[in-house]
Amino acid sequence: MAKINENYLKLQAGYLFPEIGRRVAAFSQANPDANIIKMGIGDVTEPLPEACRVAMTKAIKDMGSRESFHGYGPEQGYAWLRDKIVEFDYTPRNCNVAADEIFISDGSKCDTGNILDILGNDNQIAVTDPVYPVYVDTNVMQGNTGAANDQGEYTGLHYLRATEANNFTPEIPDYPLDVVYLCYPNNPTGTVASAEYLKQWVDYALVHNTILMFDAAYRDFITDPAIPQSIYEIEGARKCAIEFRSFSKNAGFTGTRCAFTIVPKDLVATASNGEEIKLHALWSRRQTTKFNGVSYIVQRGAEAVYSEAGQQQTQELISFYLDNAKHIREALASQGYEVFGGVHAPYVWLKTPNNLTSWDFFDLLLNKTNIVGTPGSGFGLSGEGFFRLSAFNTRENVVAAMDRIASKLTI
Ligand code: MLT
Repeated sequence: MAKINENYLKLQAGYLFPEIGRRVAAFSQANPDANIIKMGIGDVTEPLPEACRVAMTKAIKDMGSRESFHGYGPEQGYAWLRDKIVEFDYTPRNCNVAADEIFISDGSKCDTGNILDILGNDNQIAVTDPVYPVYVDTNVMQGNTGAANDQGEYTGLHYLRATEANNFTPEIPDYPLDVVYLCYPNNPTGTVASAEYLKQWVDYALVHNTILMFDAAYRDFITDPAIPQSIYEIEGARKCAIEFRSFSKNAGFTGTRCAFTIVPKDLVATASNGEEIKLHALWSRRQTTKFNGVSYIVQRGAEAVYSEAGQQQTQELISFYLDNAKHIREALASQGYEVFGGVHAPYVWLKTPNNLTSWDFFDLLLNKTNIVGTPGSGFGLSGEGFFRLSAFNTRENVVAAMDRIASKLTI
């Protein structure tokens, strides 16, 4: 009989969002008339920008004649999309990123997990706590950790605590690590990292030959030009960082699927014989073997993000969600809640009232107001006592949700 990958048996419960979905489904079944407002998973609600739809419609037409038909594309993505990314996202911020260091993919979630294919199993790996659970679970699946302890933390994985006391930016460790996952603007806390803070990480990484896995999926929500939007704004980052980017949140591609990962050619890691190997070459080998690229139609849609109309329409989308976040922050603060994030990010991170646990607050909110959020403890131990509300929603729902909290929850 075939054997399974037993690392999967180490995983705790379900992946966070399906688990929330399960609880909400049970609640709906018991309360079929409840008008549930979902502010849990960060899934966009607003239509795709018109520029993207027009470009994809044209691309479908292209597929209808032999002359303009596209079969397999380049596994790394079409050059016309990669060139635009450099021109619009990196050159203006003085980042030295070449188009052939960009690998177009179907998602940052997939890439942050898949990247482990090219790394060994005996690295010292750190995640922040709280953390986007994918970084943890994919390392467990890969066999990079031991079993979970009774608090749900995996042996062999380092947890860098992000708390209110350190402004949700963990202290730089005083011991060496091989791989560190960073996400800014942060999911789940919605907080951002200053250039000074990121420079400390890059300096640390250069000293210890650490690879920084920098998830910048929410970078377009940064409105303050002084806050870095890319790790490559920090000198030396080309030698120590991989950056993950996505069209999901800025252009509403959660269901359309297009993202990209940057693996600089300067970045190396060692083989067991001490030889330094370029990660760009390994990732290219991995992608060309296991991935056939994102569809031509979708890449044309992503390219349109960089057209004049696309830039304006995506900016409107981002502003729309940021206004939602502002409304959530202000409404909660006026009710006496302590709120964090939500200024340069689509997530608001609030302290649960009356020292409720995150899951108790989840149940209270669902039962009293029919609102679904994400319990902070689902993101790690330091998330206990916190709760995440996503600003990805219609304005009507955000306003209704905040009115319900004001009228039905007294803290
Ligand atoms: C979230 O809610 O944390 C995000 O939707 C996760 C994701 O983008 O995969």
